[in-house]
Amino acid sequence: MITKINEAVEYIRRVYSNTPKVGIVLGSGLGSFTAEMTIEKEIPYGDIPHFPVSTVEGHSGKLIFGEMGGKKVVAMAGRFHFYEGYAVEEVVFPIRVMKFLGVQTLLLSNAAGGMNTSFKVGDLMVIKDHISLFAVNPLIGKNIEELGPRFPDMSEPYNKSLVSKVKEIAAEKNIDLKEGVYCGVSGPTFETRAEYKLLQVIGGDAVGMSTVQEVIAAVHMGLTVFAMSVITDIGIREEENKITHAEVLEAAGNAEPKLTYLFKELIAQL
Ligand code: HPA
Repeated sequence: MITKINEAVEYIRRVYSNTPKVGIVLGSGLGSFTAEMTIEKEIPYGDIPHFPVSTVEGHSGKLIFGEMGGKKVVAMAGRFHFYEGYAVEEVVFPIRVMKFLGVQTLLLSNAAGGMNTSFKVGDLMVIKDHISLFAVNPLIGKNIEELGPRFPDMSEPYNKSLVSKVKEIAAEKNIDLKEGVYCGVSGPTFETRAEYKLLQVIGGDAVGMSTVQEVIAAVHMGLTVFAMSVITDIGIREEENKITHAEVLEAAGNAEPKLTYLFKELIAQL
């Protein structure tokens, strides 16, 4: 694993010489976020040794290096989901590469279904904690000591001071911000009515098919993490609740300007 990470890092360093301090992982329908970056270099995943290649509609599949909020950043346009058939080591590989490139802070976004009945489509939810459900833990197997400890503490996976900063930024701009617990599931099916209900009962506010494995790998390596969900559908509702991928992408696209603003301001204040 370490050899693979080093080979990916060596390739990237050969074509891009700056050191990014902030890593950004963008969720479904959030790919145009990078229009706000001053782009210095784009590297297609297919060019990087050992990088998996993204297949899902709405994910373009490249690492984008540049500047945002006055900081050097690297953004993943398109991420790898467990439901696509990637091994969990592949899902978290880019996060490990980011760490070895020099990234200290990781910002993630995702599209999620809402269980909290006060949420509406288009809301932004700061993730204050997560519940990992049916998603394979990326740290299973022999521990790689160069990455982190055997039994990482998970009492504060989402950095509290970054959560407070983003709340302040949102309040100043009158951006309505929710806060809650994200349930990570494998997908690719959206939840049944009974499953949404279950997730609500156990304390979940939103549910999605990404993020948790990446956050575990990041916390293992000591990265500072902040994550936010765009509520793209409401799972808990009495009327017809058919959910489509197209609807998810549309809602995520509509919420994107707000999310971009918050990420950009947060990066500026890091
Ligand atoms: N469930 C799981 N993942 C999702 C959902 C959902 O309702 N919406 C967007 N991603």
